[in-house]
Amino acid sequence: MAKGIVIYYSRSGNTKEMAQIIAKAMNETGLATECKSVDKVKADDLLDYDAIVVGSPTYYGSMAGPIKQLFDDAVTFHGQLDGKVGAAFSSSANIGGGNETTIMGIIEAMLIAGLVVAGDAQGDHYGPVSIGKPDQRVKGQCERRGRRIAELTKKLYT
Ligand SMILES: Cc1cc2nc3c(=O)[nH]c(=O)nc-3n(C[C@H](O)[C@H](O)[C@H](O)COP(=O)(O)O)c2cc1C
Repeated sequence: MAKGIVIYYSRSGNTKEMAQIIAKAMNETGLATECKSVDKVKADDLLDYDAIVVGSPTYYGSMAGPIKQLFDDAVTFHGQLDGKVGAAFSSSANIGGGNETTIMGIIEAMLIAGLVVAGDAQGDHYGPVSIGKPDQRVKGQCERRGRRIAELTKKLYT
């Protein structure tokens, strides 16, 4: 059976809250999905999942160090994540604070690893973004993204 994982780094809880909403929506859409802090994930765990969703707070317009480390560690099995579904999300403090560049950085790493990443024509195009604590708009975007990731993964892997 196909399965997914949502991996996040979060110091003050904003990215974690987004992760939990996305994972819940993925489960409710029929894709068994775990939700884990990055410190509980080893790079080779990624091999076990069909959908890999990664969230980071925006740090200087980019992903936080522990998330970057996860991708760097994955180089030891480069090529073996090919064809899995990927998606990214971020929280930042400010509008224009770099949350989309953070998402694009994560997506770049995913594309280099061979993951399949879908955009969204109607929702947050690159992935859900939050300014500080997730509000109702952000929660809706996280639910929407979670549903879409699960639907795509089920199409490819069941
Ligand atoms: C080291 C560091 C760098 C940050 N850099 C940015 C930044 O470039 N732009 C921004 O809008 N917020 C920045 N922030 C704020 C965080 O992205 C923001 O508070 C985020 O919501 C924290 O997520 P968390 O609650 O999941 O830890 C930074 C915070 C830290 C600690």
